[in-house]
Amino acid sequence: MTVDLVLKDGILIVSDRESVRSVAIDEGKIEGFYKHGKEPRSKETLDSRGLYVLPGLIDMHVHLRDLDQSNKEDYESGTMAAAAGGVTTVVDMPNSVPPVLSKEVLDRKIKSALSKRYVNVGFYAGIPKDIKSFDAAMAPDILGFKVYPHAPLTEGTVYDRKRIQECLKLAKDHNLPLLFHPDSSSKGDIAKSQEEYFRIHSCESEVRSLQSFLDAKVEYEARLHVCHVSCAATARLILEHRAEQTLTAEVTPHHMFLSGGDFAHDDGRAKMLPPLRSPYDAKMLSEALSTKCVLDCIASDHAPHTDAEKTAPFLEAAAGIPGLETTLPLVLTEVFEGRMSWIDFLRCCCSGPAAVLGLPNKGILAQGYDADIVLVRRQEWYISGADFYSKAKITPFEGRRVLARPISTIVGGEVVYHEEEFVARLGIAGQVPVRKPYQL
Ligand code: DOR
Ligand code: ZN
Ligand code: ZN
Repeated sequence: MTVDLVLKDGILIVSDRESVRSVAIDEGKIEGFYKHGKEPRSKETLDSRGLYVLPGLIDMHVHLRDLDQSNKEDYESGTMAAAAGGVTTVVDMPNSVPPVLSKEVLDRKIKSALSKRYVNVGFYAGIPKDIKSFDAAMAPDILGFKVYPHAPLTEGTVYDRKRIQECLKLAKDHNLPLLFHPDSSSKGDIAKSQEEYFRIHSCESEVRSLQSFLDAKVEYEARLHVCHVSCAATARLILEHRAEQTLTAEVTPHHMFLSGGDFAHDDGRAKMLPPLRSPYDAKMLSEALSTKCVLDCIASDHAPHTDAEKTAPFLEAAAGIPGLETTLPLVLTEVFEGRMSWIDFLRCCCSGPAAVLGLPNKGILAQGYDADIVLVRRQEWYISGADFYSKAKITPFEGRRVLARPISTIVGGEVVYHEEEFVARLGIAGQVPVRKPYQL
């Protein structure tokens, strides 16, 4: 037998231990694992000695913009950032311009992504004000619904109990998760000072918002996913409801590894929503992830903006930072320095998001799974936004020392990125839109 590709003699993580193996890939899938010298013949071989062979990351929370905000990011630059960051699947949020509230806009985004992507791209949809007008023909092409109770995609929508229940019902009817941004402020709450901004978007506001969704969910079986948990108190509330298999949650690297006090008072570069919290919150999030298994996924919330929008004073600056090129280095640094186990890394960055999104063929290195793989070198380097492939080059992690670097990224068996070069043709690798297999 001749397979398409063999990744030869790399370091695999087997039961939390390092083990040298070769991985054979055929027709976009993982064909098998072999000891040195036992590999099948292959059309191509990639020498992986000294490199960690890991499942590509699944980042279930990114804003790739495109369409009318292509100046901030488009599917080409966004998926280049993903591939260079070892992320093989991204799921794109619906708060684009225009927002994803109709099949027409979803189809435009799919068409654009199809011609320009380097990795797998999935999509979420928003929910129209009149829920009955949701076009069910969109359902096979999306992986979930996303709502912003504090800043609805449709003018004048209020996320009271009735609205939340209708959204949960829609999600359940289509067997999709309902994702939400926990924030109980309203669109009219415009901060006039920095202090007011933090008060409006406080931990209390985050917890209250989660509580309102949990209350609305009491009698519903729908799956609810909490985006970017940023406070210790929110993690605590999730823990209390953890018995419900239908409740899942994600955390960003910046909420785990940074806190507000790390930055000058008026610095818009570290402005994001939810805001950075206290060192206590950051510490408790890391603990919630590892010790308590309260958090299912690490997601970057990659939210690119222009340099001018980020260098403005805090109140005027746009909220959001790029994250696709920093997640893997930051999180693997935790693993290499002994603060996170391999199991938690693989769970939160790969298999956890696959489970939340309902993708049974992704997120694990196992026979028959999609060959979405990243080869990583353990190496000390310093994060520099100027080197990002993302159009957004301003990062609050500028100058941070990290210990892991993606060397090669493989999507659906195709090597797309290798030693700082893009080697696959644009629009060739991966799946757009990413669909649940049974819907194919
Ligand atoms: O910081 C953020 N940026 N938070 C959000 O909820 C939206 C995002 C964006 O789209 O820029
Ligand atoms: Zn959000
Ligand atoms: Zn977001």
